[in-house]
Amino acid sequence: MKKFFVIGNPIDHSLSPKLQNHWLKENNIDATYDKIKLEDSQIKNFILDIKKQKVAGCNVTVPFKKTVIPFLDKLSPEAEQTQSVNTITFYNDYLVGHNTDIAGFDTAIKKLNYSIKGKKVLILGAGGVVPSIIFALKNMRVQEITISNRTREKAENLKILSNDLKILDWGNLNNFDVLINATSLGLNNETINLDFSSLGPDKLFYDIIYNPHETNFLKTGKQLGYKTENGKTMFVYQALEAFKLWHKIEPEVNSNTFKLLEND
Ligand code: ATR
Repeated sequence: MKKFFVIGNPIDHSLSPKLQNHWLKENNIDATYDKIKLEDSQIKNFILDIKKQKVAGCNVTVPFKKTVIPFLDKLSPEAEQTQSVNTITFYNDYLVGHNTDIAGFDTAIKKLNYSIKGKKVLILGAGGVVPSIIFALKNMRVQEITISNRTREKAENLKILSNDLKILDWGNLNNFDVLINATSLGLNNETINLDFSSLGPDKLFYDIIYNPHETNFLKTGKQLGYKTENGKTMFVYQALEAFKLWHKIEPEVNSNTFKLLEND
């Protein structure tokens, strides 16, 4: 039986097994999908197990999206450009790293029915998922992308990926249409220490976090009357793209898919 995994550290919170196993069953595919917590020192051997086909393929989450790259044979153009891999396949004897976070975010924004083209976007945070968001936003032809991160240097480092990025000191929120929380603040009910109260009308508050389904950041956005969206749709569609790469089948997404992720 084919074995798939999601690797990360921590990994307890991951809902990927629930979703992938649901689709495996629905499509009568004889395979399993589990989560596994790895240390840095175990990454190489784990990936060699994919080369030996003891493991059929895997998803990669924080903090290994970049760590896995030296052990792979090829990268998709998206993974190459973002230096971020969240899905590994084995094809024609090659280990290939893909980035399906980009497609996940792209689909999530398209499904929002919000015209993001020409908008000014502020991303809070500069962690592992941010290069993928920048890549997707550029494809959507937003007017400008600004990064604000507690540790400014990490935001500056992202300029390697895109030299027209703007960097702003933490705390300055003026003049944006879209605010994206890509920090880890909210995962454990934390509040972001920024004043969102005088942003003006018509903003979109988007949070990459999907569990909890409404972070304090989104609660604030909602209270101020803004459009809000959590990271669940992005999560589902990055998983769908990975499933398609491994099984060559497009799984179904419907209200049950989303309900499945609510029970936790
Ligand atoms: P990684 O940085 O390992 O990729 P991540 O979970 O993807 O991890 O990213 C965490 C993000 O949340 C970072 O942008 C981090 O800011 P720093 O680069 O300054 O660490 C941000 N973050 C975490 N705790 C924060 C806090 N208390 N205030 C502001 N930003 C915070």
